[in-house]
Amino acid sequence: MRSLIQVLVLCAIASAGTFKRADHVLHERRAMQPVSWVRERRLEADKILPLRIGLKQQNMDRVEDMLLSVSHPDSPTYAQHWSAERVVNFFAPHEDTVSAVTAWLAEYGLTGDRVRLSPNKGWLETELSVAEAEELLGAEYHVYSHASGIEQIGCERYHVPDYVSEHIDIIKPTVHFNHRARGPDAPPKFRKRESVLGQPSSNNGPKTNGQLATGSSDPLANCDREIVPDCLRALYSINYKPVATKKNSYGIVEFTPQAFLAGDLDLFFSNFSSGQIGDRPVLVSIDGGVAQTQNQSFNFNGESDLDLEYAMSLTNPQPILLLQTGDLVEGAGFDNWLDAVDKSFCTFEGGDDPTQDGIYPDKLPGGFNHPESCGIIKPPNVVSVSYGQDEATVTPKFANRQCQEYAKLGLMGTTVLYSSGDDGVAGFGGACLLPNGSEPTTVNGNKFNPSFPGGCPFITSVGATMVPQNKTVADPETACELVIFSGGGFSNIFPLPSYQASAVTSFLKNHPPPFTSAQFNNSGKALPPGIDGQFALVFGTSASSPVVGSIITLINDARIANGKGPVGFINPVIYSEKFRSAFHDITVGGNQGCGTPGFQSTEGWDPVTGVGTPNMTALLPLFLSLP
Ligand SMILES: *[C@@H]1O[C@H](CO)[C@@H](O)[C@H](O)[C@H]1NC(C)=O
Ligand SMILES: *[C@@H]1O[C@H](CO)[C@@H](O)[C@H](O)[C@H]1NC(C)=O
Ligand SMILES: *[C@@H]1O[C@H](CO)[C@@H](O)[C@H](O)[C@H]1NC(C)=O
Ligand SMILES: *[C@@H]1O[C@H](CO)[C@@H](O)[C@H](O)[C@H]1NC(C)=O
Ligand SMILES: *[C@@H]1O[C@H](CO)[C@@H](O)[C@H](O)[C@H]1NC(C)=O
Ligand SMILES: *[C@@H]1O[C@H](CO)[C@@H](O)[C@H](O)[C@H]1NC(C)=O
Repeated sequence: MRSLIQVLVLCAIASAGTFKRADHVLHERRAMQPVSWVRERRLEADKILPLRIGLKQQNMDRVEDMLLSVSHPDSPTYAQHWSAERVVNFFAPHEDTVSAVTAWLAEYGLTGDRVRLSPNKGWLETELSVAEAEELLGAEYHVYSHASGIEQIGCERYHVPDYVSEHIDIIKPTVHFNHRARGPDAPPKFRKRESVLGQPSSNNGPKTNGQLATGSSDPLANCDREIVPDCLRALYSINYKPVATKKNSYGIVEFTPQAFLAGDLDLFFSNFSSGQIGDRPVLVSIDGGVAQTQNQSFNFNGESDLDLEYAMSLTNPQPILLLQTGDLVEGAGFDNWLDAVDKSFCTFEGGDDPTQDGIYPDKLPGGFNHPESCGIIKPPNVVSVSYGQDEATVTPKFANRQCQEYAKLGLMGTTVLYSSGDDGVAGFGGACLLPNGSEPTTVNGNKFNPSFPGGCPFITSVGATMVPQNKTVADPETACELVIFSGGGFSNIFPLPSYQASAVTSFLKNHPPPFTSAQFNNSGKALPPGIDGQFALVFGTSASSPVVGSIITLINDARIANGKGPVGFINPVIYSEKFRSAFHDITVGGNQGCGTPGFQSTEGWDPVTGVGTPNMTALLPLFLSLP
């Protein structure tokens, strides 16, 4: 009885504090109380708030069909990519949505000049006093402070009329709270993967186990031990010199503090590509990104050096755009580089997630205290990202928002490649999921732990293969089973896409893996969908993604030189029957993890080596034969 009375009293107090009307419904409430933040005081009623109302987009359910119409080899509109404006207009909210929300604002005297539609058409924006906002939203605004001295404002819940709720995603600033302030007393709980992607502690960079063997007069003599560019050219029949470099573009994403060292590039070039000594990538600084030289070690430079050395030598003389993302203080997440290439994404569905992405301006000492980098460059024709995180560390809503953006980039003609991870069917550091699907904390689980965004159907996930010991480039490669095991398996968030259905169904039917569905989700989208590159000495799928990106860049060059467009999203093409002969099928090797041998390579598609490794000489005429 006592507890019931208490509950009633609490409710009465809670509702007395808000101005909820009969026709209003609760639209959002805060998911959790902020940790390490103190609610200081009511926000002054006469303060002016910039209020942004995120409108529901239309046509999101058609994004896959639209993407296939420009990327399926049988589509009559293959490679007829969309302009950024067409993408914005197609997904822009319906006019009924705009008028419903405008009418609601007008009821509160917010009319005419006081209300604007954002350039991406996704937001209605207005400025109003805190008193007006509290009235409009049935909300109470407070100031919250953090021991580092940072303050932010917010409310715990807000309401809108029933007829408006269905037209709105979110309203800002309201319940969306940045929990992630660092500095003194910052919460110590952040998992290794979640905050700063480029931090050496993030454990997802390439691995090394030694020095290069001394040079041999035959560049192909040691391809079983070290993959130099000539080995890659031989393995994948790469024999093409770019001619359309001014019209082509290739971006490599790195996350600060990961950075290349000029001396490392020159050392590599002096041995393997002497004409390129002194060549550097074109730095595109995203959210204060710097190619820092303060901290130098394999863990700080290995990833960037590797990516750039291979991309630059294989595509020479194509200039490489280095998309250096995040400042030295806060770092960045995948959404940050997406913001930089597509300004309509900066605020799409509410913008970046403070638990995953860098939020700019960064107000911490030494941080990048400027507006976020939003649409600062055109999306490059190919983008390679050798970073990933465990899918279990992101929410389905976050994962879907980002995945839809990859589809939009594909519509605009960009190929996005991610490395598939180096821990086989396990996640970073060998982490396997608990039975309820959570990341392990103390004791490891035994469920497979796929990577993100590897499971998003609209990117190409690239794994690793190798030349077996004592074999040559003329022998069949195997899945990489030295130091690292290629990431691969099935997503727990994304369903199987149509372009993959027949390959995956036939694999599961003809080679049923000896695991139960308690260990992997056989209805999920499979990784890697794509091609495998390879590399040794530095071990890692990290190296594979820039190599495959280089091959696609060369193919784009040839298409551009022939008056055609870049290839954009490649998965429907590489899964098609017509292109099968242009890949070397890999049939040996597995991707062990979580106490199992992992999946095994087999004839045809498999979840370890995907469609196989590319033969560029065979791929080129096929891609040139497409419109
Ligand atoms: C790189 O070049 C140096 C100097 O010519 C040579 O001593 C070394 O063996 C070469 N290393 C490799 C791996 O080819
Ligand atoms: C990077 O360099 C800074 C400045 O010298 C130093 O304070 C910091 O500890 C270094 N970080 C690592 C991980 O070595
Ligand atoms: C999953 O199980 C673990 C271990 O029993 C527990 O600590 C964790 O809170 C659970 N997670 C969820 C989301 O239920
Ligand atoms: C490769 O050759 C070396 C030297 O002949 C030998 O010791 C090693 O066992 C061979 N490895 C394999 C996998 O055949
Ligand atoms: C399996 O994947 C599907 C997406 O295809 C998802 O809806 C479902 O929740 C996943 N199951 C588990 C147990 O994760
Ligand atoms: C690659 O394809 C070309 C053209 O089809 C073929 O001549 C060549 O033998 C293939 N290379 C390899 C290593 O399979």
